[in-house]
Amino acid sequence: MPILPATAGPLYDPADPAVMADPFPAYKRLQTEDPVHWSPVLKSWVVTRYADVRSVLLHDAMSVSKLNAFYKSLPPDDAARMRDIVHYLNLWVAFQDPPQHTRMRMILRKAFMASSFNNMTSDITNIVDYLLDDLSGRNRIDFIADFALRVPAYVIMDLLGVPRAMLSEIKAWADDMAVFIAGARNANDKYTRAERGCRKMAGYFRELIIERQKNKQRGFLTDLINANENGDKLSDDELVATCILVLFAGHETTTNLIGNSLLTLLKHPVHFAEFKDTPEKTDTACEEIMRFDGPSNGIVRTVTTDHQLGDKTLRAGDRVYVMLNAANRDPAVFDQPDTLNLARKPNRHLVFGTGIHTCLGVQLARQEGRIALRSFADRFPDVSLINAEPPQWQDAMVPRGLKTMPVYLTGTARQTEPSHAEDNL
Ligand code: HEM
Repeated sequence: MPILPATAGPLYDPADPAVMADPFPAYKRLQTEDPVHWSPVLKSWVVTRYADVRSVLLHDAMSVSKLNAFYKSLPPDDAARMRDIVHYLNLWVAFQDPPQHTRMRMILRKAFMASSFNNMTSDITNIVDYLLDDLSGRNRIDFIADFALRVPAYVIMDLLGVPRAMLSEIKAWADDMAVFIAGARNANDKYTRAERGCRKMAGYFRELIIERQKNKQRGFLTDLINANENGDKLSDDELVATCILVLFAGHETTTNLIGNSLLTLLKHPVHFAEFKDTPEKTDTACEEIMRFDGPSNGIVRTVTTDHQLGDKTLRAGDRVYVMLNAANRDPAVFDQPDTLNLARKPNRHLVFGTGIHTCLGVQLARQEGRIALRSFADRFPDVSLINAEPPQWQDAMVPRGLKTMPVYLTGTARQTEPSHAEDNL
């Protein structure tokens, strides 16, 4: 393993608040000085060039399965408490390697290609319009809590046939599970909470699936239940696990997509004006906006067989952070990568990954992003950031998203007023 001299500071420190707020200068440095970088901070490789990122994601000596090793390392008491959550996470297609992955993905593709998944345009439009109606009359909102979080939550619930009245319960269970999935460091009771959230969530989806098997109502859940490859179908446990995965995979990423996209436009007023004036170019513009500051900084792999990447040897067992947002700014692939160009074409960004694990929800995510951004800009063309309350980034390395983004909906006139006068608006 390469070891830096004791005096050298880290070339990349993901926990540095300045890097979290704007990781792109650090990515540029890594791309130029050490594109396959051993991070002493992360005890992992950090890969930033487009070609290397692709090569890792396409390499068959890279694994996504990491839970079993973790589970085996737990003290017996903790392992006993974690049984259910580990069981279901191990059934996520996202955490499986071939041949298990190949089998499950073939079956899932049938459901994700069906019309119930891909014809969500009018549902998304209704949800977005409903949320926008709810905002009208207000002068300031938190764009994340009041809009970006709510769009994908309602879309995923509608997709799976979960009544909207269940939102707060589902959110509480998901939050409990997330302390484990996102690896929260400070939660003392994280195993107990995660297991409790998982049991409740699994129990709920199991009932929903049984109900759907009886009444055969049309929709994505029915397509999942019926999906088969030469007669091979998902087991009941796989169905439950996939419902939980869809809930997680489709939520935070899409929230980040919508939040980062509006922030990018607000920081580029000339481009925002162009966006508002050219609705016919929404699709191309949204691809560029997500390339520019995408919703996941990176994804993780574990090396299964020693091999070379650039001038470095990756050893079996090493962890690799594959930085998608860095690759999407690589000058070897994108002309003037740090310039927002809403007409950029082609735009081969890696926001949805590549290779065998490429995002299965890409069509839905794109539809949500386009409809949310276009409808919001049409309804509130004068939206602006609040100078006294800048957006706050999440304290996380892998997801790239905002915790809060206070905005004025009706223009900048009130920016001159003292900020305490805004609190009760
Ligand atoms: C902006 C929104 C989204 C982004 C940026 C995104 C991004 C990604 C990425 C990068 C991967 C590959 C992960 C890897 O290689 O380890 C992935 C996988 C996946 N995504 Fe998404 N995703 C989004 C939305 C969705 C939605 C809405 C759904 C479903 C409703 C979804 C379902 C999945 C699934 C099931 C996988 C695993 C595929 C596999 O392992 O074969 N995603 N996503």
